[in-house]
Amino acid sequence: MGIAVVGTSNIADEFVLACRGAGVDVRAVYSRKKETGRSFAERHDIPLVVTDFDALCSGDFDCIYVATPNLFHFDQSKRLLESGVSVFCEKPITVTAEQYLQLRGIADGKGLFYDCAMMSAHSPGLDVIRRSIPRIGKITGAHLIFFQRSSRLDRLYSGELPNIFNMELQAGALMDLGVYNIYAALELFGKPLSADSKTSFHSCGCDYSGSAIFDYGDFHAVLSWNKFADSPAPSVITGENGWISISSVSQFRGIRLHTKDSDCELYSDDVSKVGIMAYEASYMKSMLMLASEERLKNAVYSEMKDCTLSAAEIMDGIRKSNGFPF
Ligand SMILES: NC(=O)c1ccc[n+]([C@@H]2O[C@H](COP(=O)([O-])OP(=O)(O)OC[C@H]3O[C@@H](n4cnc5c(N)ncnc54)[C@H](OP(=O)(O)O)[C@@H]3O)[C@@H](O)[C@H]2O)c1
Repeated sequence: MGIAVVGTSNIADEFVLACRGAGVDVRAVYSRKKETGRSFAERHDIPLVVTDFDALCSGDFDCIYVATPNLFHFDQSKRLLESGVSVFCEKPITVTAEQYLQLRGIADGKGLFYDCAMMSAHSPGLDVIRRSIPRIGKITGAHLIFFQRSSRLDRLYSGELPNIFNMELQAGALMDLGVYNIYAALELFGKPLSADSKTSFHSCGCDYSGSAIFDYGDFHAVLSWNKFADSPAPSVITGENGWISISSVSQFRGIRLHTKDSDCELYSDDVSKVGIMAYEASYMKSMLMLASEERLKNAVYSEMKDCTLSAAEIMDGIRKSNGFPF
């Protein structure tokens, strides 16, 4: 099993480490600059640096992991899929649902693997929460929270425009953090009947925080995300007989169950991000090992596709009703 990575930022570093943990061989890195690629390759002992995207498309790889700014996901993934290479792309897999459906059609038509690198979906914590929900009884509400003060915020405050706040690159808080809350709600409760939302924008034009209310008929899930501030508040699912708290909805770790009979930690908060990403890399490996007909019938792959489409549709709706520039 040999893959290549596109992009040389921290998340690509972490994914390469996760691949090592999952027994996936990273054979090449693509970078626009030879020196950047070389320094990434040296850090991880990767044999090949590629600076020509066409050469990457015609290379002998089982899959390419794409970790570039959101604006490039669609074009880069399309070129790779059309060349017959499977793609595992960072979140959000594409910017719009229409783009996702187009690329999914190409992938399915060619028997290729095409999926979103959504770490929460492969965390053991997801299963832990799903199995625990019946213990709290009928769900009465949920608060899914992802607040994370960006490590690049001080650069924004001093007048720079880091990529993650650059709306021309289709970035911002919804695309970076809100996407996790939305997947979490879909993974835990399914598709909502409707979704309302609000967004706050910074003077540079980027959205820095947002909230959504997902209507599930019997209860509502309140989702909130913020790139300008940390928060000590965990996410909580409440039921008639107790509650489940979750310290990270992006990784589904730090999970606690409280009922009248018990109060216990079900999944530790003390798991590294790379450790959680190793499950994601293992999933990618297992999907690549399946024959395409088997993969199309695989329950986890199908669920990922449904979730990814629903998330993209919901995010399209949030952007449209909140005046986003894209
Ligand atoms: N799963 C997670 O926890 C996680 C965390 C962070 C980010 N992400 C996702 O990963 C993706 C990358 O985010 P990031 O913050 O790492 O982005 P970034 O640092 O702005 O860019 C990532 C890489 O893309 C290439 N790149 C940058 N600007 C480019 C441009 N204008 N044109 C073409 N290539 C460009 C660069 O590689 P070269 O210079 O080597 O070409 C860079 O190393 C996003 O989709 C984001 O949502 C996921």
